[in-house]
Amino acid sequence: MSAVARALAGRFPREFVWGVATSAYQIEGAAHEDGRGDSIWDEFCRRPGVIKDGSNGDRACDHYHRVDEDVDLIAGLGVRAYRFSIAWPRVQARGEGAWNEKGFAFYERLVDRLLARGIAPYLTLYHWDLPQALQEKGGWTSRETTLRFAEYASEVGRRLGDRVASIATHNEPWIVAILGHEAGIFAPGLRSQKVAMQVAHHLLLSHGIALEALRSQGCRAPLGIVLNQSPIHPATDSPEDRAKARLDDGLTIRWYMDALLLGRYPDDVLSFLGEDAPRVLEGDMDAIRRPLDFLGINYYTRNVSGTGAPLDPVAAGKEVTDMGWEVFPRGLSELLIRLHRDYRLPPVYIMENGAAYRDQLVDGRVADVDRIRYLQSHIAAMADALEAGVDLRGYFVWSLLDNFEWADGYSKRFGLIHVDYETQRRTLKDSAIWYRGLCGEHAGMLAPRVAGG
Ligand code: GCO
Repeated sequence: MSAVARALAGRFPREFVWGVATSAYQIEGAAHEDGRGDSIWDEFCRRPGVIKDGSNGDRACDHYHRVDEDVDLIAGLGVRAYRFSIAWPRVQARGEGAWNEKGFAFYERLVDRLLARGIAPYLTLYHWDLPQALQEKGGWTSRETTLRFAEYASEVGRRLGDRVASIATHNEPWIVAILGHEAGIFAPGLRSQKVAMQVAHHLLLSHGIALEALRSQGCRAPLGIVLNQSPIHPATDSPEDRAKARLDDGLTIRWYMDALLLGRYPDDVLSFLGEDAPRVLEGDMDAIRRPLDFLGINYYTRNVSGTGAPLDPVAAGKEVTDMGWEVFPRGLSELLIRLHRDYRLPPVYIMENGAAYRDQLVDGRVADVDRIRYLQSHIAAMADALEAGVDLRGYFVWSLLDNFEWADGYSKRFGLIHVDYETQRRTLKDSAIWYRGLCGEHAGMLAPRVAGG
């Protein structure tokens, strides 16, 4: 293994950052402690039938109480970076009004412990847990929420901006807008395309207003956003399938990239939406198109689009993960090279990449060879993109720990580290040991060489 890991590590520049990622609701637990308010996910999980195993994030990985031990685990992996999110209702229970000092104390402790261990904190402001009190005033359908978000961003920037390696405003606005407000399978569970597209616009607008607020107060951390992106391939070469794939590309990739980097929404998508296009006020697009210090990309699989029934990758003989997502590493290099060609990109980080598998803990060991292969092939694809000229700066494995996988509850395991939810015992999977090896090889390459050695 070590020769392979060494060869792979050797394809990355010295400064390249290796990390692991999590999000607040998926790991913290302590959902009703120390003044944390309800989020839309607390509320959503109470609805019968929406979460596969009927679970919720009340306890999750109990990270809120185990933060010291978890930082030790991160340090033990030899990574240089940790990506996490702040639960807005933990630091401001109702999304407006008083700040919760106990909530901020938790994140300050986390950040300080990371720094003490030489791990750079990569902070995300919004990983889907809107304060429920704001949802009751319209949530992201309301323009007011964009202003509340900017106030929250400013306060986080004021308290932590000098200690974190970067601040991302949103994680995956497409998911929030579409799965939360059109498909209705994520919180807050609404089902309207018109509402979803207005939400998509407000999320982007809130990003722009937050960047402006953070910059005007002198926040020193690099600022950006994290998008989920997958190349969309037509199911067949027919003109209908190609047109559908192009439209889906517009809805998932160009809607966000064009707005952020070009200051406009794509015409083909606007005409497809017609009446469902969002209300955009004068100045909004300029507010959205603020310079980005970095762009985060989350990549898991490709998408296949067509006018027929959705392609079942298993039936088509493709290799899939436990999510049923096709393993398609080439899609990562293809996506990055295409974005690099079509836009003037800021430095790019892969903020999430990883896979769920049916891991078995046997005699204290998880032999997750599939995950190792998944990571290895995607890291190689990333190296291909680097060699093609994409300015890639870092890579974060999703996820540090097995955790609450949204509507799938605890039924899907994405972690490098296995969690026994009864005992909260953590066990390094073989993939964690492999990744530690890769990080070690890369770090070793950086070590000063003894002359002649
Ligand atoms: C995501 C999410 C994660 C998911 C992961 C696997 O940003 O989509 O950040 O919360 O757990 O993607 O589905």
